[in-house]
Amino acid sequence: MEDKSTASARAAKANKQKTTFSGNMGYILAVAGSAVGLGNIWRFPYLAAKYGGGIFLMVYLILMLTFGYAMIISETAIGRMTGKSPVGAFGAFGSKKWLKFGGWINAVIPMLILPYYSVIGGWVVKYCFEYLRGQADALAGDAFFGGFISDSLTAEICFAVFIVAAFLVIVAGVKNGIEAVSKIVMPLLILLAVITAVYSVTRPGALEGVKYFLVPNFKDFSIMTVVAAMGQMFYSLSLAMGILYTYGSYLKKDADIEKNTTQVEWFDTGIAILAGLMIIPAVFAFTGGDIRTLKAGPSLMFITLPKVFDSMGLGNLIGSVFFLMVLLAALTSAISLFETCTATISEEAGLNRTFSSLLVLAVSLVLGTASVFGYGIWSFVEIFGMQILDFFDFLTNSVMMPVSAFFICLLVIRAIGFDGIAREVKLSSRFRRQRMYYVVTKYIAPFFLLIILASSIASTLGFITI
Ligand code: PHE
Repeated sequence: MEDKSTASARAAKANKQKTTFSGNMGYILAVAGSAVGLGNIWRFPYLAAKYGGGIFLMVYLILMLTFGYAMIISETAIGRMTGKSPVGAFGAFGSKKWLKFGGWINAVIPMLILPYYSVIGGWVVKYCFEYLRGQADALAGDAFFGGFISDSLTAEICFAVFIVAAFLVIVAGVKNGIEAVSKIVMPLLILLAVITAVYSVTRPGALEGVKYFLVPNFKDFSIMTVVAAMGQMFYSLSLAMGILYTYGSYLKKDADIEKNTTQVEWFDTGIAILAGLMIIPAVFAFTGGDIRTLKAGPSLMFITLPKVFDSMGLGNLIGSVFFLMVLLAALTSAISLFETCTATISEEAGLNRTFSSLLVLAVSLVLGTASVFGYGIWSFVEIFGMQILDFFDFLTNSVMMPVSAFFICLLVIRAIGFDGIAREVKLSSRFRRQRMYYVVTKYIAPFFLLIILASSIASTLGFITI
């Protein structure tokens, strides 16, 4: 049997260095583009409100700097070492069954997420369009959202517009598509986020909300705070879904993996905090401090926020700015999913990029349509008590993602070895947190991942309430 160091040396040699991002900045913005998405703007604030505000934020930050850091380093280093997206990356270390499984589960997740993520992207397209047409009043109506998603034809058109936009960027290529779009979109996104956050925290009565969000209160802590923060961190940093291998495989050998990781983490967390500042104080002010509305989750962005915007003046303007920002964030995330699927197909089936991306588009249109119809003409369909879209979300984020992350740890521990990873990272970084990386990947991560998996399945089956 070949030892670990020869295996990783061979994998490294197999990487022909495609170097398709032109420089560090392009890479960082593209990875940040993947990370910053609906998860930051919509999911983070409502989870923070639900799980104790400041204390959730604190737990999240600790996890991000330890766990999140370790996972990003692993995936990026493996991607760059092998020059492959997940299936090829796992395959570079042998042909054992568990390696095959680990590679494919990482590759299948983005193919399942892309369609339903794009359906939600389509909802954002619709809201953006309506705000730009000056429909703030109508959007604030109770029945608007329900009426829209149950109108399958309109929802399908919006979904198609969104996913075709992502497709066009992929066809344009890594440098001319993904990188070029990220370089324009990400700075614009920060600007829009700052405008909305400033608007929100300066509303009368908003300061209470700011306090709730930022100041930790230890009596709000529970073990579910940790489980929820962990799940959110995975989702938000786009971990365990093949994306970072794929983007890592386009990274130059002299790019500082450690520094890039830190920058992406803070970028992602910064936008999540800004989103918290946009949403929590505004809703606080609107409801007179009633956090139940915030805890309502999914309906927050599409039902409550439009009411808040409408009640605060400048509804059309701020609504347009906000939803445009959400649209840009969602689009760059969808692009990263699309790219990963495309890269996997073209590597594994030996097809060219355009053809592979067309295949991804076709599969996504079919699966996404099922999610669209799940709210409309197929609303009678229920899987484990969930609608189709919710089921895809649950399956990927709560079941498959912890499993795939577990296999990443296993790959590092059993096949590559910590020395292999360290060698790759140290080609261009000091790897200051190497010890922590080792401890987290070997002892803490596998254990926590199993807890997340167990608790999310148990909560869905109704054994515990999260
Ligand atoms: N990280 C993205 C977000 O925060 C979500 C995402 C999930 C992106 C899966 C790509 C893949 O919204």
